[in-house]
Amino acid sequence: MTVKIIKCNREDLQLLREISIETFNDTFRNQNSPENMKAYLERAFNSKQLEKELTNISSGFYFIYFNDEIAGYLKVNINDAQSEKMGDESLEIERIYIRNKFQRKGFGKYLINTAVEIAEEQNKENIWLGVWEKNENAICFYKKIGFVQTGAHSFYMGNEEQFDVIMTKTLI
Ligand SMILES: CC(C)(COP(=O)(O)OP(=O)(O)OC[C@H]1O[C@@H](n2cnc3c(N)ncnc32)[C@H](O)[C@@H]1OP(=O)(O)O)[C@@H](O)C(=O)NCCC(=O)NCCS
Repeated sequence: MTVKIIKCNREDLQLLREISIETFNDTFRNQNSPENMKAYLERAFNSKQLEKELTNISSGFYFIYFNDEIAGYLKVNINDAQSEKMGDESLEIERIYIRNKFQRKGFGKYLINTAVEIAEEQNKENIWLGVWEKNENAICFYKKIGFVQTGAHSFYMGNEEQFDVIMTKTLI
């Protein structure tokens, strides 16, 4: 069994798009209307938007492979790419998604450890993320690996305002 982390580049755009749409759909379609899902997917994962994010030097996308198959992906942001003004000492995990059949096998934890390594290499003091208040599985996972709630913010899923819990893990 081989687990590998590979940083994505411009050539990975279409693959990244496919994995992003698949995992977002699988995670949220049962709790959201088809209209709001469609609006979000079109806005967040259109090729132009993803290309902009992929080529932003303050963001990084990483695929996690199990043998030759992609098991999931991670997106991290620093500096101005962070979706809240958390400052230069913070690193944001904006997206962490494991494909259904690979969940609960340690891949999510592996990606969190990758984010911790990236943050430590850059002397960051903490890692933070926003998680939908209704995403109980993810909240349990984050608590299990040492994140604590430090705030909240709202965002739009289509035309519906929803609330994210902000969770932080201190590194020093
Ligand atoms: C949330 C997610 C990233 C977790 O990754 P994962 O690979 O399934 O979790 P892991 O196998 O690495 O679990 C790590 C630890 O968390 C625990 N854990 C994971 N999910 C859990 C849950 N729903 N409830 C309680 N504990 C959980 C595991 O038992 C494990 O504990 P251990 O280290 O003592 O064995 C993954 O399930 C996922 O992608 N879900 C759908 C997308 C999503 O919600 N992403 C987050 C958006 S903010």
